[in-house]
Amino acid sequence: GDAASGAKIFSANCAACHAGGNNVVNGAKTLKKDALEKYEMNSIDAITYQVNNGKNAMPAFKGRLTDAQIDDVATYVLSQSEAGW
Ligand code: HEM
Repeated sequence: GDAASGAKIFSANCAACHAGGNNVVNGAKTLKKDALEKYEMNSIDAITYQVNNGKNAMPAFKGRLTDAQIDDVATYVLSQSEAGW
């Protein structure tokens, strides 16, 4: 995926809850590297699955974003977690 494209998709669709890699709804489940590792979300496949399907208070994006957009935003989240946001 294209992280630069993913950054724009993140701003428009994710930042309301996840600005700066945080989580305003569930403070344990951030997008920081330690949390992604703890909850086994530290892969493109795991992030893609959750963005497609949602989980608890997080909405599903399948049908709202294209497969390519979801791949791009997953790439962005994983690269930001590696970079420390
Ligand atoms: C969890 C990504 C949009 C609320 C997560 C996690 C990822 C993620 C990777 C797992 C974090 C972890 O387990 O440590 C994204 C992306 C989004 C997005 C890429 C945009 C496409 C949103 C929005 C909301 C939201 C808009 C709020 C309305 C949550 C919540 C969780 C979560 C509540 C915890 C889910 C649970 O395990 O119970 N998100 N998110 N997310 N996100 Fe999002």
